[in-house]
Amino acid sequence: MKITKIAPSHRTEKITYAVRDVVILAQQVARQGKEMTWLNIGDPNIFDFKTSPEIIEAVHRAMLDNYNGYAPSSGVEEARRAIREEAERKRIKSIQDIFITTGASEAIDICMTALLNRGDNVLVPTPGYPLYGAIINKLTAEPRPYYLDEENGWQPDVGDIASRIDEKTRAIVVINPNNPTGSIHSREILASIIDLAREHNLVIFSDEIYDNLTLNGEKIVSMASLSEEAAVITLGGLSKNYLAPGFRIGWGVVSGREEVLGDYLNGVNKLLRARLSASHPVQWAIKTALQGEKSLLIETREKLIRRRDITVRMLNAIPGISCVKPQGAFYAFPRLHIKNPDSVFVSELIKETGVVVVPGSGFGQRPGTRHFRVVFLAPEPVLVKAYEKIGNFLKAYIDR
Ligand SMILES: Cc1ncc(COP(=O)(O)O)c(C=O)c1O
Repeated sequence: MKITKIAPSHRTEKITYAVRDVVILAQQVARQGKEMTWLNIGDPNIFDFKTSPEIIEAVHRAMLDNYNGYAPSSGVEEARRAIREEAERKRIKSIQDIFITTGASEAIDICMTALLNRGDNVLVPTPGYPLYGAIINKLTAEPRPYYLDEENGWQPDVGDIASRIDEKTRAIVVINPNNPTGSIHSREILASIIDLAREHNLVIFSDEIYDNLTLNGEKIVSMASLSEEAAVITLGGLSKNYLAPGFRIGWGVVSGREEVLGDYLNGVNKLLRARLSASHPVQWAIKTALQGEKSLLIETREKLIRRRDITVRMLNAIPGISCVKPQGAFYAFPRLHIKNPDSVFVSELIKETGVVVVPGSGFGQRPGTRHFRVVFLAPEPVLVKAYEKIGNFLKAYIDR
């Protein structure tokens, strides 16, 4: 019988996700028996970080109490209330809606889907988290890069943002602290972005999923705290701050003027209802996480500060690498002063050393520059060994 292939939709054509794409090569290398060091994925539970027993017990209890049916589409009331209180502690005003989703990822997908038509564009930080581009492409809209300035600690370049807005621009994404650079954005820059968004009637996606993982002793400024009028979706979740990415629980807090947001929120809520709900019992972890014991968070930050410091010190000591010090999250985005594309460098690095990092091209970067992203969640001896291997490899690579 003649075989007729089933073609994937055109909307999948531009979808890439570099963080997992490098794994295919790395697995081939691993099968040849090489010792691997996985510094590619932002999952704390692969390393020496564990979800707190308190929040696991909250889920266990909820399951035994038979909260195993569907939840309300926007989420369990008690959990939404805890998210509201947390948002108010972050000084977010004029909250219009709160919904709980399957990771922040689903909130991003739903909120973009309810907003974008074919040909619209969204300004996305570059470098930035690749899911935004993937979803915007899926919706046949255009992810339009704006650059973070490496010379200025990876702060957004507000002039660059302003120059890219046109009549088809619908939203602007801000990731703070940023993945992959670890940068934290200043109040002044955030305020300027809000001014631009208000002037052009844009929705701001303020991705604050790493907001408690600041490594400079300061709290981040939540964008929505800077304006009662701006339309802001503040994204958060349990994956990073609470070391539970496998729970798949995130949320969106929508703030701004009701008259401006009302119709859009109807669209968002239609989509929320159509997919029924996020996992019901796991939502019972939210209140315990947000209102519970904070010692694990303090311990996590202390470990990350030590690992960040080793990362910056050792990478900056390697000729051919310069690394801006990350101020939050658990990523660094060192620059490679080499001629080859970073994807070639990373493939060779994986094959020769077993150290798995992600090429900068997977997050976007200024044309002509080369970087890689490293996750510094691994214990100190693992990081030290990996950076020694990168140093030795690069020395031979540059000499080649
Ligand atoms: C900036 C950013 N936003 C969102 C996500 C996805 O989070 P979740 O696990 O809640 O879907 C990630 C995950 O790495 C991230 O780095």
